[in-house]
Amino acid sequence: MSSFILVTGGTGYIGSHTTVALQQAGHQVLILDNLSNSSVSVLDAIAAISGQRPDFIEGDIRDATVLARVFCDYRIDAVMHFAGLKAVGESVQFPLRYYDNNVHGSLQLLSAMQTANVRTFIFSSSATVYGDPQFLPLTEDHPLSSTNPYGHSKLMVEEILANLYQSEDYWRIARLRYFNPVGAHSSGLIGEAPQGIPNNLMPFVAQVATGTREHLQVFGNDYDTPDGTGVRDYIHVQDLADGHVAALKHCLNSASELLTVNLGTGIGYSVLEMVKAFERTSDTSIAYKIAPRRPGDIAACWADTLLAEQTLGWKAQKGIQEMCDDAWRWQRHFASREKP
Ligand code: NAD
Ligand code: WQD
Repeated sequence: MSSFILVTGGTGYIGSHTTVALQQAGHQVLILDNLSNSSVSVLDAIAAISGQRPDFIEGDIRDATVLARVFCDYRIDAVMHFAGLKAVGESVQFPLRYYDNNVHGSLQLLSAMQTANVRTFIFSSSATVYGDPQFLPLTEDHPLSSTNPYGHSKLMVEEILANLYQSEDYWRIARLRYFNPVGAHSSGLIGEAPQGIPNNLMPFVAQVATGTREHLQVFGNDYDTPDGTGVRDYIHVQDLADGHVAALKHCLNSASELLTVNLGTGIGYSVLEMVKAFERTSDTSIAYKIAPRRPGDIAACWADTLLAEQTLGWKAQKGIQEMCDDAWRWQRHFASREKP
């Protein structure tokens, strides 16, 4: 019986890129996704890139019956857990939905793993767990806090994982704190496809470039940053995917591990710098208007990347121009496919 990496949320944005990276590193992938924020057509796109169609089960991580079947029918070496909800504003409106999906869902998954004796777990955490930075760059020992149910759900799962590791130290766990994932696969075949009005900067900018949206609202130009707009550590999603493969390798080579590590580039760019970079890529002018600050936003945030380099031997390779080029290629491919 050949062995698989179970990727929950594998038809989603980060999960699909990581599936390709896993396949290219020689792993077989089984995706479990309820398709609440993705399409089954992503499987064809993954197959077109890697030459290998991942196994797929449409199902929910909160469904214990589905999970029992997955672990019974497949030999699973490790679980990469991307499935969850991720919109900060929506989490304030529907907190129970967020705790149910992100916390209860993770508990169900971990319980099924424990029963099946699968103990290697890679978790999608977020730099949002650092709250408003007290110092920069953000090291992994920066104090943690949350200001919304989404962030709190990530903190809760991080703590659950620490408790689990304390109780049974033969677990091998990586808590990966992503900064701002952007871009798309360089093939243009997979990328981020937000439903409705994008919450995040880059998908919004890309839609202004295609003419789908009239102008970008820049949320605040009076922050204590070089040009007054918010500064973030944008990381190309393929670099992020490679970081997962490195974390998996590290865990599989350890007898016992609880690793908490930032996945970022260590460099911050402002909203206006990202707009300018996208203008260069798309050869369009991105219309924007200065709007009030978005509630809950922080001024600036970027990662200390030393621990990732030292423990995983991984470092992000792609710069903002590549992030914009690949986002633009995907946007044109995706936008043209969506037209009737
Ligand atoms: P995404 O929405 O594109 O992917 C998540 C996938 O999980 C989707 O395909 C969705 O259909 C699936 N899903 C959701 N709930 C499920 C459930 N209960 N059972 C089965 N499948 C379910 O999001 P993404 O950007 O790829 O994010 C992946 C993970 O990374 C999430 O946990 C997110 O919180 C985390 N993360 C994302 C970002 C970001 O900016 N994109 C940053 C930090 C952390
Ligand atoms: C980036 C910058 C905005 C949209 C969010 C989540 C975080 C993580 C990543 C999951 C900020 C500005 C944005 C717009 C703008 N996700 N902006 N106009 O807020 O850093 O992080 O995604 O874990 O938890 O909070 O990313 O892309 O929304 O914003 O001016 O229309 O762009 O104010 O400075 P953020 P973002």
